Amino acid sequence: MSQRSWAEPWKIKVVEPIHMTTRSERERHIRVAGYNTFLLRSDEVYIDLLTDSGTSAMSDRQWAGMMMGDEAYAGSRNFYNLEKSVRDVYGYEELIPTHQGRGAEHLLSKLLITPGDHVPGNMYFTTTRLHQELAGGTFHDVIIDEAHDPASLHPFKGNIDLAKLDAIVHEYGAARIPYVCVAVTVNLAGGQPVSMQNLLDVWSYCRARGIKVMLDATRAVENAWFIQQREVGMGDRTVAEILRRMCDLSDGATMSGKKDSLVNIGGWLGLRDKALVAKAQNLAVVYEGLHTYGGLAGRDLEAMAIGIRESVQEEYIRSRIGQVYYLGERLQDAGVPIVTPIGGHAVFLDAAAMLPHLPREQFPAQALAAALYVESGVRAMERGAVSAGRDPLTGHNRYPKLELVRLTIPRRVYTQAHMDVVAESVISLFQEREKVHGLQFIYEPEYLRFFQAQFAPVGAPVVLDGPAEAYHAAVRSFALTGRR
Ligand code: F0G
Repeated sequence: MSQRSWAEPWKIKVVEPIHMTTRSERERHIRVAGYNTFLLRSDEVYIDLLTDSGTSAMSDRQWAGMMMGDEAYAGSRNFYNLEKSVRDVYGYEELIPTHQGRGAEHLLSKLLITPGDHVPGNMYFTTTRLHQELAGGTFHDVIIDEAHDPASLHPFKGNIDLAKLDAIVHEYGAARIPYVCVAVTVNLAGGQPVSMQNLLDVWSYCRARGIKVMLDATRAVENAWFIQQREVGMGDRTVAEILRRMCDLSDGATMSGKKDSLVNIGGWLGLRDKALVAKAQNLAVVYEGLHTYGGLAGRDLEAMAIGIRESVQEEYIRSRIGQVYYLGERLQDAGVPIVTPIGGHAVFLDAAAMLPHLPREQFPAQALAAALYVESGVRAMERGAVSAGRDPLTGHNRYPKLELVRLTIPRRVYTQAHMDVVAESVISLFQEREKVHGLQFIYEPEYLRFFQAQFAPVGAPVVLDGPAEAYHAAVRSFALTGRR
């Protein structure tokens, strides 16, 4: 992609100041945050690439829509607008709004999984798998092998390996498999897409055996763009057409609107089966709120209804992914090891390749994300062994093949100059990579530990100000309350 081919189809109307900090300030901040970038305050960050979730800039249309919020408890007109957007753009007739993606995952898991069931999926995602496990299910990774190889150039590394899926079906029987969860794109594989052909193959396979197919549609628009760019016979279709066709090959979807749909909060569960919808609406009242608001204000529903339509505009999606590619290609040119092909929402640094001096037990990706913050004030996120957590049966750390740091690009937020600063920061850290120290846990929460865990450098004294015990108590309390 040439550097100027993806200029943003918008201009800036409102700005939010950001500030650079000094290196010694950042050294203190990361220590107090237990070397976990999730525990930094946003004011301590210069360029925030922690996540693309809920960090988008909304359009003037969306802000105008916020003023049209109908805050009625039941039957808000914004719900019907959202329902229409989802029907038009994704094609799911029935919609249950949720406060965010994991709210929809919770409902779906409770609805379909019986304890002892098995749920195949194309690589795990943290919250998705946890909800499946909490409902009594066991997740099985059926993604193609290439997805676990950061250097493989397979154009659809998110694809499901039908032979792996078939092996799970043979082992446990179709009756113990309530659905196959297909993520489009696959976040933890590096934002990698699934091909239309693969979606079709999975759909045909599952239909023949009475197994449902549920999409994780969180970044489905980005997936549709990759299909348009890469898949034979798809180049002359619009992203909107491709997205509809993708969804047609599923029974339903969970959605985190905080990504593709350009909003700061919101999600939904989309379904077609009326009997299932009635049950889902009933569960929604227990966990989210009435089925016409699902934990959201009317204004949030409206912003999402508008964001969904903006997200499938060709020039928008082209510039969105163009910006991610711009950063990725700058890093590649400098020899920094990244996951290839470059993904849709983020550039993933291959921490295992970059820091071969650190064993996996010292969490190289966590250490690299902390070091990048100290180097430059750029906040990234670990996506490796810390995110993978422990095996619920054995209690041992899971060590996934990929040990990555994610530079996640918020939508419509940063400029090309910001991407240049990020590239220069990563490159300068890369040149001094042997100086990065390994980390050890000093606090490990039970669920989704990566969000709140605290670390200290291996071999370094873990004392901040005062005795170690006081420090540990303080970091624990900080993890729980956010107060220092
Ligand atoms: N599915 C995928 C593929 C996701 O990336 C996320 C969130 C969710 C589901 C859950 O949605 O956050 O709205 O509850 N991913 C964020 C991230 C947290 O940073 O990748 P949520």
